[in-house]
Amino acid sequence: MIEIDRLSKTFRSRDGADVVALKNISLAVRDHEFITLVGASGCGKSTLLRLVAGLLPPTAGAISIDGKPVSGPRRDIGMVFQSPTLLPWATILDNVLFPLKLTHQITEGSREKARHLIALAGLSGFEEKYPKELSGGMQQRAAICRALITEPATLLMDEPFGALDALTREEMSLELLRIWNEQPKTILFVTHSITEAVLLADRVVVMSPRPGQIADVIDVPLDRPRNFDQEARSEFQDCTHRIRELIFGNRARRTAAVA
Ligand SMILES: Nc1ncnc2c1ncn2[C@@H]1O[C@H](COP(=O)(O)OP(=O)(O)OP(=O)(O)O)[C@@H](O)[C@H]1O
Ligand SMILES: [Mg+2]
Repeated sequence: MIEIDRLSKTFRSRDGADVVALKNISLAVRDHEFITLVGASGCGKSTLLRLVAGLLPPTAGAISIDGKPVSGPRRDIGMVFQSPTLLPWATILDNVLFPLKLTHQITEGSREKARHLIALAGLSGFEEKYPKELSGGMQQRAAICRALITEPATLLMDEPFGALDALTREEMSLELLRIWNEQPKTILFVTHSITEAVLLADRVVVMSPRPGQIADVIDVPLDRPRNFDQEARSEFQDCTHRIRELIFGNRARRTAAVA
């Protein structure tokens, strides 16, 4: 369980123009829950993930994971960033194994496990290649394998499919759902795609900017396993419609008034 309690983050700047990135965010995420975060650019989604990961200290409020306060980077969290951050001098296999090496957890079965994840991500045959020999999408899939190798109970994903083409993106979404179903984890997943947000989530957290706040939390009442055929269902449409209204509502109304 992740508990976010009245969390605020202000970035201080030397010229006095402080940025209130997050203001008074509270959210309780249940074990094995899949949460997606959507909202306009700059509303604080990445900042929220970095705070949960312990990569940034909050200005006010607190975060705890399974009752333990987050006070610095944690090893039991997997994180995937928008652009793949692979080590250029290491092979794909070594990149995937890296978190285990870093924490001296390499065992007999580690290489086998890494190969299995690489196969799941559709990268069999590329184990001994270097990142620059792979496309951006393939590198991103390797970065996801790297986040999964330690079997983290919590996975934080910041627009992990942002750099992928539409087809690969759909494939990876379904793949992620399959992995999540096999090895249940608590996932916080940032996306700009409202369809992706609804397809994946148990609940969609919609954020609003300046200062970053939670505008609403939408329950997704769709059966699992999910697939893109459900997009035509009225429940799916209702969710995307409500989210669009929350994000663009004011802007759409303003435009209509001008027209
Ligand atoms: N290290 C930093 N120093 C100063 N300001 C920052 C820093 N990181 C983020 N900000 C500011 O905090 C606000 C939220 O940024 P954040 O990156 O969390 O937004 P986001 O929702 O992830 O946006 P996007 O969808 O474009 O990725 C922005 O106004 C940004 O300029
Ligand atoms: Mg961001």
